Amino acid sequence: MSDVLITNGRVVDPATSLDEIADIHLTDGSIARIGTGLSVAGAEIVDVTGAVVAPGLVDMHTHLREPGREDEETIATASAAAAAGGYTAICAMPNTDPVQDSASVVDQVWASGREAGLVEVVVSGALSKGLKGERMADLGEMAGSAARVRLFTDDGHGVQDALFARRVMEYLVSVDGIYAEHCEVEALAAGGQMHEGETSHRLGLRGIPAEAEELMAARDIALAKMTGCRLHLLHVSTAGTVELVRRAKSDGLHVTCEATPHHFTLTDATLEGYDPMCKVNPPLRPARDRAAVIEGLKDGTIDAIATDHAPHAQQEKDQEFSYAPPGLVGLETALALTITELVDPGHLTLAVAVERLSTTPARILGLDGHGSLATGRPANLVVFDPAAEWMVDPMKLRSKSRNTPFAGRTLKGKVLHTFFNGKQTVTAGEVVRGALV
Ligand code: DOR
Repeated sequence: MSDVLITNGRVVDPATSLDEIADIHLTDGSIARIGTGLSVAGAEIVDVTGAVVAPGLVDMHTHLREPGREDEETIATASAAAAAGGYTAICAMPNTDPVQDSASVVDQVWASGREAGLVEVVVSGALSKGLKGERMADLGEMAGSAARVRLFTDDGHGVQDALFARRVMEYLVSVDGIYAEHCEVEALAAGGQMHEGETSHRLGLRGIPAEAEELMAARDIALAKMTGCRLHLLHVSTAGTVELVRRAKSDGLHVTCEATPHHFTLTDATLEGYDPMCKVNPPLRPARDRAAVIEGLKDGTIDAIATDHAPHAQQEKDQEFSYAPPGLVGLETALALTITELVDPGHLTLAVAVERLSTTPARILGLDGHGSLATGRPANLVVFDPAAEWMVDPMKLRSKSRNTPFAGRTLKGKVLHTFFNGKQTVTAGEVVRGALV
């Protein structure tokens, strides 16, 4: 019997409407009791006075790069970065090489995630073979495999053919799958380097209009209504998309969506310096869109904060803007950006922030063991100091890649400890090496 007593923390658990100073007793990997003045003979005491204890964060959108680009990230290094960032579950995107479009590939990723043992690696599957948008991937087999795939996406590409999208949605209804879209009409976005608008015109870079995202979002919402399929829109970035989701929800459709920390923090003005670190897809948008994303997070139109953690090799990012691949690493900065940009300025309460980072993504993905501190649940939790400031140093990231646009920024909110199934994966801000099994 292993007992841990986390004492004197501010326990914030939106799932059970808890927000109070309390102790948490963990026993044999589960949450045994929450209360004040607890004492357990022989328990290891972790005093977290002044810190927040919340359910472990859940990232719906992580690029792990393994198999195929282990020089950029591996399942083990992404797991370490995730644990350091306060996560206990991450959802592996399928644009690997080979693509996660069959049971054998998703099961391999799932098994490697278990082997790394630092977070739960939930595996998504591709919608189409090779992410080409032409032939269906092995949807039924992936849903029924050991990895039990629930979320399907061609992320990195939008599905261009409306009939194909319809047929996939019809199929996914039968396996209770979620159709997750990277909304981008290629005919409008092709060759685009950044958001199309005043700044792109001034910089002389080809633009990606907001409509490239919004047209596909509107199409998918219509198809979700037609087929009854659950729809999740990935990394929404424009005011128009947020409004489309708001309306779909008020119409009672099964539509959810996520937004990234970079879209609620940065705008296209950041591109003035032609820094490839700020190149991302969908692109950073003007202030009006950023404000709409924040409003969506506030009123619940946007269900989840997801990182779109996208590691890239330094030699590839270190090129002229037009040649650099889009993407940035986000697992280790998401919580602090949420506190700095949303909680501190008063846009979100801490409880709502935890809801967007943990409770709701866990519910969407159907992860019963995450997103809640209810007694009897597996002890998946994060302890963080919401007031501690730290400077982002790319060299200190646990991720194998260092492509962050936030280098040198001082952020508020520091992860102290992470517990995964009761095992401490991060202690005093350091990933516990022995936690790797
Ligand atoms: O910026 C991005 N990078 N957006 C995506 O959709 C894909 C990702 C990647 O895999 O690099």
